[in-house]
Amino acid sequence: MGFREDFLWGGATAANQTEGGYNEGGRGLANVDVIPHGEDRFPVMKGHMKMFDFDEDHFYPAKEAIDHYHRYEEDIALFAEMGFKTYRLSIAWSRIFPKGDEAEPNEEGLKFYENIFKECKKYGIEPLVTITHFDIPMHLVKEYGGWRNRKMIGFYENLCNAIFRRYKGLVKYWLTFNEINVIMHLPFMGAGLYFEEGENEEQVQYQAIHHELIASAVATKIAHEVDPENQVGCMLAAGKFYPYTPNPKDVLAAQQADRENYFFIDVQSRGEYPAYALKKFERKGIDIQMEEGDSELLKQYTVDFISFSYYSSRVVATDPEVDEVGGNIMSSVKNPYLEASEWGWQIDPLGLRITMNEIYDRYQKPLFIVENGLGAVDTPDENGYVADDYRIDYLAQHIQAMKDAVEIDGVDLLGYTTWGPIDIVSASTGEMKKRYGFIYVDRDNEGNGTLKRSKKKSFDWYKKVIATNGEDL
Ligand code: BG6
Repeated sequence: MGFREDFLWGGATAANQTEGGYNEGGRGLANVDVIPHGEDRFPVMKGHMKMFDFDEDHFYPAKEAIDHYHRYEEDIALFAEMGFKTYRLSIAWSRIFPKGDEAEPNEEGLKFYENIFKECKKYGIEPLVTITHFDIPMHLVKEYGGWRNRKMIGFYENLCNAIFRRYKGLVKYWLTFNEINVIMHLPFMGAGLYFEEGENEEQVQYQAIHHELIASAVATKIAHEVDPENQVGCMLAAGKFYPYTPNPKDVLAAQQADRENYFFIDVQSRGEYPAYALKKFERKGIDIQMEEGDSELLKQYTVDFISFSYYSSRVVATDPEVDEVGGNIMSSVKNPYLEASEWGWQIDPLGLRITMNEIYDRYQKPLFIVENGLGAVDTPDENGYVADDYRIDYLAQHIQAMKDAVEIDGVDLLGYTTWGPIDIVSASTGEMKKRYGFIYVDRDNEGNGTLKRSKKKSFDWYKKVIATNGEDL
């Protein structure tokens, strides 16, 4: 009973929110580097305000982030102390191919991740690698328009070839695109897309999605050819949409909202465009350019497992009078039964069990929860210690719900990685103040601080959870 014996407990980060060292080791500039902190962040992430380089007027948190680039040994040692079985991290594409369209990879970049993976292996930590977590070399954005251009598939294929071959034997678990559905909400951050006035944005987005879906299939193909041991997963920003009332109109609206997300996994896991999506394209006049062989690729190279992030469930109401709240990327109306975080993200542990069941029923492939956690304001004492009982509560309840999904419902779950096991830069706001970690990092929103690491109360708690394989929460 309980979680499988080889259950992969750990934590997850992303290169641009963690590494810093944006111009070191031959790294090229990336879209994520130039997304500023402050009020212009959203227009830039949405592709409505062009920012292709740094300027004097903004602060760019990704430039230094938490300096994991220079401190990864210390950070991984702390993860090992908690007993991590896995560490999810992402590759910064522009470290491997600084411009993106070179023929040969950058050795220094390859070496950097090789060192990280070896450091993980030293402690028996299995790396789980996101090939792209919102990051694209800036040159590919400027010269090719990001994922709107079909040539991106070839550049991504080069990246996959380089990393799969170099890290054979060191890395087994791969994710092709972080939160692939984010492209519909934050297209510059998700896919390097920006729009010209009057352009049909949805047309551009769905064409870019087609390219990513093909690229994901190609990655799965190469991963299996290079090493049959490789396991490739897709990654969705998940969270069930509930109808606000039993009014069938709300129920239908919730089903449609869910499909906006499942669409991606329907293709990546079942290998074809679902009928409801083709009908929608027809209705909206969206014309996706496909090439010969595309359908076969999608059909043949589906993913091995389904991974997703879960922070919250969501609610849909057809009544326009119902209040909206914030949430992870997608907005939602307020659920009167739930509390919310300081950033308005509604807290729903049972929603995790519901979401797991729904995804498992739909695809019947092993699941991997690769992000979950509470972004909160922490107040450290003079030693950097934070008594973060609120974080422990949140995680304990979610782990219990995930355990129920495994024990009671029979969901096959490979592992669980909390988001930001060490405090990192927030993706949505660019803040440091929104913290998820078991490890506190002394740095503020404006980039002040010593970057010193210290353990929070949740550090020892998570260590115990892992040691007991989730029995003692
Ligand atoms: C997910 C992303 O959307 O949520 C992460 O994959 C992100 O990159 C995480 O950091 C939490 O969101 P935020 O905005 O609180 O950092």
